[in-house]
Amino acid sequence: MAPGPWLLLLCVATGVVLHAHAQPDSKGFISIDCGLSGESGHVDDTTKLFYAPDAGFTDAGTNHNVSAEYVTPTMGKTWYNVRSFAAGKRNCYTLRSLVSGLKYLIRATFKYGNYDGLNLHPVFDLYIGVNYWQTVNISSPDAVMLVEAIVVVPDDFVQVCLVNTDAGTPFISSLELRPLKQRLYPQVTEAQGLTLLNRLNFGPTNDSFVVRYPDDPHDRIWFTMVDTVTWASISTPQKVHTVDDDLFEAPSAVLRTGIMPRNVSQNIELTWSSDPTPMDPSPGYLIVLHFAELQVLRSNALREVRVTINDKPWFTLDFTFSPVYLYDIPFYNRQPFQYSHYNLSVEATSNSTLPPVLNAAEIFTVVPTTNLGTDPDDVYAITAIKAKYQVSKNWMGDPCAPKAMAWDRLTCSYGAIGSRPRITSVSLSSSGLSGEISSSFTNLKAVQYLDLSNNNLIGSIPDTLSELPVLKVLDLSGNQLNGSIPSGLLKRIQDGSLDLRYVNNPNLCTDGNSCQLHAKKKSNMALYVAVPAVLLVVIVSVTVLLLICLLKRNKQGSMDNSITPEKYKIPSNPTTNDVDSQSSLQHLESRRFTYKELEMITTNFQQVLGKGGFGYVYNGFLENGIQVAVKLRSHSSNQGVKEFLAEAQILTRIHHMNLVTMIGYCKDGEYMALVYEYMSEGTLQEHIDGSNRSGACLPWTHRLRIALESAQGLEYLHKGCNPPLIHRDVKATNILLNATLEARIADFGLSKVFNSNDTHVSTNTLVGTPGYVDPEYQMTMQPTVKSDVYSFGVVLLELVTGKPAILREPVPVNIIHWVRQRLAQGNIEAIVDTRMRGCYDVNAVWKVADIALKCTAQSSVQRPNMTDVVGQLRECIELENGHSRDDANNGFYTGSSGNDPNMSYDSYATDQSTNVSPNNASFEMKKRLMRVPTVPTGPAAR
Ligand SMILES: *[C@@H]1O[C@H](CO)[C@@H](O)[C@H](O)[C@H]1NC(C)=O
Ligand SMILES: *[C@@H]1O[C@H](CO)[C@@H](O)[C@H](O)[C@H]1NC(C)=O
Ligand SMILES: *[C@@H]1O[C@H](CO)[C@@H](O)[C@H](O)[C@H]1NC(C)=O
Ligand SMILES: *[C@@H]1O[C@H](CO)[C@@H](O)[C@H](O)[C@H]1NC(C)=O
Ligand SMILES: *[C@@H]1O[C@H](CO)[C@@H](O)[C@H](O)[C@H]1NC(C)=O
Repeated sequence: MAPGPWLLLLCVATGVVLHAHAQPDSKGFISIDCGLSGESGHVDDTTKLFYAPDAGFTDAGTNHNVSAEYVTPTMGKTWYNVRSFAAGKRNCYTLRSLVSGLKYLIRATFKYGNYDGLNLHPVFDLYIGVNYWQTVNISSPDAVMLVEAIVVVPDDFVQVCLVNTDAGTPFISSLELRPLKQRLYPQVTEAQGLTLLNRLNFGPTNDSFVVRYPDDPHDRIWFTMVDTVTWASISTPQKVHTVDDDLFEAPSAVLRTGIMPRNVSQNIELTWSSDPTPMDPSPGYLIVLHFAELQVLRSNALREVRVTINDKPWFTLDFTFSPVYLYDIPFYNRQPFQYSHYNLSVEATSNSTLPPVLNAAEIFTVVPTTNLGTDPDDVYAITAIKAKYQVSKNWMGDPCAPKAMAWDRLTCSYGAIGSRPRITSVSLSSSGLSGEISSSFTNLKAVQYLDLSNNNLIGSIPDTLSELPVLKVLDLSGNQLNGSIPSGLLKRIQDGSLDLRYVNNPNLCTDGNSCQLHAKKKSNMALYVAVPAVLLVVIVSVTVLLLICLLKRNKQGSMDNSITPEKYKIPSNPTTNDVDSQSSLQHLESRRFTYKELEMITTNFQQVLGKGGFGYVYNGFLENGIQVAVKLRSHSSNQGVKEFLAEAQILTRIHHMNLVTMIGYCKDGEYMALVYEYMSEGTLQEHIDGSNRSGACLPWTHRLRIALESAQGLEYLHKGCNPPLIHRDVKATNILLNATLEARIADFGLSKVFNSNDTHVSTNTLVGTPGYVDPEYQMTMQPTVKSDVYSFGVVLLELVTGKPAILREPVPVNIIHWVRQRLAQGNIEAIVDTRMRGCYDVNAVWKVADIALKCTAQSSVQRPNMTDVVGQLRECIELENGHSRDDANNGFYTGSSGNDPNMSYDSYATDQSTNVSPNNASFEMKKRLMRVPTVPTGPAAR
């Protein structure tokens, strides 16, 4: 088998970087130091991950130490030893306790180190389960080879197998498994996995700089590609973010550096060649590029790039985009490319004033994973049988697949494509089996022929064998069985469905009447379970509260009441007329619950309503039948205590009909929970993206009302509380809707008290949600009430467009840019959610879009405050009410700003690049677009 890109050779100088580490742990990581003798593993110095010895993962092979001449002082511990498999065609590691159907990253490493003193260059194949993964071709004794795949694991275990191809003895140095979130690497499906060609970090100038766990929580290994002649490095000390539902989650440690061409008129180019293998004559390639703007651009500067592959646009469209400041834009293909040679180029567009950038790249080949392993019940049964009788033979890997490596003494049926093989016969005659007949035989439900003759089996014949539905022949002759033929089997014999052979079992009674049955003694052991000590109730120590919210701000205008049918009034609202509901809530206000009570309320946390960073939210019912939502802090979350306390403190003191109502809290030992009024219609997000229960689309009048109500909630935080309260995480998922679609702001975990005299609001970490974060806050790290205004503007745009804060197709783009671009052409129809089918007043929509864009102005002084926003939204509702009265849908917006929209929105188009800063003039360049020769640094060139 040919080597090459198909088979990624990362020849890292011996003794460097690839420290292996891990622990079979809460993260779901499995890390194995193959060939490590003894019982104890070791903890890696840098990652603090625990590496276990491999004895528990494989039952074949032998341990060896690499030759002393290949040991270097700085070498990671996993390189000291290998396990090699001189016997058998296929030998496997079994990784257990996985979740079937989830995605996993599997990585194996190899360093030969002349462990056998033979100075060979072994070549062998690797399989993941029953699918070919990659060929390992060891080029030199000190070469370090790393192979990695991302696959969907079909069962709750996976096997990694080394297959001898008569070109040397297979061996392995380490094996690692990392679970991945389902949405990551969407190209990975049940039928298709990815094999890593290279994963590159650009920017660092030391090529032994490697990023992995804990900087990458998924423990991907990012190698640095250095070419200081061709590329200039850029970097930022700031965190570079990925969007909430990012598909690749590249770590900030990698994203915060990047490269630009040193010669600003050239492109960034990467080249490599496809390498066909006998297994795949035309391998497909998938590429993920990561782009983030790391520099604050001058107002007249533009960095705009396009990506081409072999001089053709990446997408069929010529797509150009600007990297976003401190946010990753991953650029990727879903359908594999199939070229023989790759020339990937990142170019500046003709309008760009700055050279292109590139922060990171991942290149994969596609491996089919369409072969299915044997039925898992059969696998479990035969594996238990193998273990009980210590069967050696070639019983390794999957019992039936691939066919060429199926286990001796088994026959399998292979059925149609897409169905799993089944074990149909087991012939273990004269195999030295001893002990009783394993009950696992009765789990081989497809077996027709079971031959256990001429062994040393003892005990009685289990009647459960009669339950094997298609068993035709059962040969037990030539053993030491006793007892009688069980009645179930007798029946099968009588009805002719089974041929039972049992000669030469001297102790077996074949005449039922003369048998002396040995009744089994049963020991009835009662189990006493220690009752855990009564949980200690700990009272929340509510720190001194700075917040005094003026109750007078809480009065609701008559308009609100007319808009909102009020079903569940919150306790502090004096205008309520639903007295029963009010009083029942009132006496429960800020009640403290024990964990036991929460268990009762939620019926043992049965129904999950949602999940946040804090933990799960459960459905519950109070004693009086009032439905509540219980947000339970997850045990594993170290974060959240502070946020939990912050939220509990805020919500016990502030009350407004457009803020979510807290009914109580629990701080019981390590358990912490908040109990809220139940918001049956879920989050605004679900209603915008259509994932709400009914799937119905919100009509425009509802959207307007929700906008006004949320604005009122925020206005109260900013104006009604003294000092003002900054929410800091305003977004559509933090606006909840009750049964009558009344909006309430939720999640105060990140809220900050803001004192306008105090310019040092505690600000060390940027909080908020990508797509919603105020760019000024991002630069200054000083949140203000205007940061909430900005985020609220994004929510308004979502309400108008029905689109998320960051649009995904074809690459992520901020909704603000997307709207500005379209409105710059005076085209309101191009942005309005088409699901509203034109049922809206155009003027009202223009006005809301106008408010939204003012809220999202780059500079906070240009943004309105929430009181202005509330006033403007009221006007919108009046406009809309006028619309529904006269059904006049053709007018132009002539609202308070009074401009022709075709004119007034021109400014929005140019408002994009306003992060003004004086200090990056060195990267200014004239507009030009040039192509340059290939740089000699493509992934395969090293
Ligand atoms: C392994 O690699 C060497 C050199 O790279 C090559 O000559 C040889 O053909 C390869 N062997 C196999 C079996 O692919
Ligand atoms: C490898 O070396 C270690 C420590 O030097 C030793 O304890 C172990 O027995 C050796 N293993 C083999 C297989 O020789
Ligand atoms: C590169 O990094 C390695 C490991 O961190 C270090 O030992 C080496 O000195 C560095 N080389 C240079 C040229 O900075
Ligand atoms: C930069 O690249 C252009 C186009 O390839 C070339 O003409 C020019 O000489 C280069 N400049 C330098 C300083 O190398
Ligand atoms: C470059 O800018 C001009 C004027 O702003 C615009 O018309 C043109 O479409 C832009 N070209 C590209 C490739 O974006």
